[in-house]
Amino acid sequence: MNHRNLGNTTITMNQVGLGCMGLSEFYGPPTDINVAVKLLHEAIDLGVDHFDTAESYGVGSANETLLGLAFHDRRDKVRIATKFGPLRDPVSGERVGLDGSRANCRRAVEDSLGRLQTDHIDLYYLHRADPNTPIEETVAAMAELVKEGKIGAIGLSEVSGATLKRASAIHPIAALQSEYSIFSRDIEADVIPACVETGTSLVAYSPLGRGMLTGAFKTTSQIADNDFRGVMQPRFSGDAYRANLALVDRIIALAQARNVTSAEVALAWVIARQENVLLIPGTTKLTNLKSNLAAMTLTLDDKELTILDQLADMVQGTRYNEQGMAMLNG
Ligand code: ATR
Repeated sequence: MNHRNLGNTTITMNQVGLGCMGLSEFYGPPTDINVAVKLLHEAIDLGVDHFDTAESYGVGSANETLLGLAFHDRRDKVRIATKFGPLRDPVSGERVGLDGSRANCRRAVEDSLGRLQTDHIDLYYLHRADPNTPIEETVAAMAELVKEGKIGAIGLSEVSGATLKRASAIHPIAALQSEYSIFSRDIEADVIPACVETGTSLVAYSPLGRGMLTGAFKTTSQIADNDFRGVMQPRFSGDAYRANLALVDRIIALAQARNVTSAEVALAWVIARQENVLLIPGTTKLTNLKSNLAAMTLTLDDKELTILDQLADMVQGTRYNEQGMAMLNG
């Protein structure tokens, strides 16, 4: 397994981890708890050690509770990354705010530790920058948690390069998590150079374009009502959806020529494009997990990379709806 250091820390993680969000919410109904725990254990057996969750994943933070159930008796085999900031009603799941204050940071970490059934979180992120709390205040509060041993390293998610640099002046930021894929390359202009400058690892979420880049979606595919891609992702609706799937056909053709899956091509592209990147594709299925791990052995040649490099500019639709876009690049 290819290991990477997290920022300038001594914490190592395998290059391809597992994004756990979809096990609890957003991409259709939650996976049955026993099935999900089994998958998480199988992931460890396959060498996965980086598991990504958040306080806001699943109604009542069900995703963290799931990871606690799966990992409490094998804590030494996993690195747990979780996040705080967005607030949700614990019963209805309704989004009720965003709070990066010290008080909320301290409340959230204790709640997460409890649900995760552990005494430390390996990587703790601010999930989205809070416009009402200076990043310096948030990071100073997170730095206290590092000192106290409650968290191993600090991460930020979907912040601008300027915010990353301000934050790094307070405490080293080990990881910056953002959407990054063949279809979503906006962070290359400002954020990735800031990561290089500050020695921060890039953690790429939705490297499969929320499943679109795998070829699993067809123009005839129906997006279920309980699947947030239909509502929150303009790329999955109307004319944009059809246009984007035509671009995916090019990835599928390239994958077929190499006798690999489109998912492997999508992940191998991220690996080829960014040195020291960590990826957290999400899946609820063992077969797909194995395919995603296989991407680490796939090397794309220059001709293939050139073909894939052209696609982002042709993608139609933003990566979130208006409300989601407003929370990016904070
Ligand atoms: P996110 O980071 O938001 O989870 P992603 O990793 O880009 O997004 O994509 C996740 C989606 O890709 C999920 O719908 C997942 O579906 P399954 O749970 O059915 O696997 C899908 N996916 C992940 N790996 C896949 C693979 N190797 N082949 C096909 N679909 C895959």
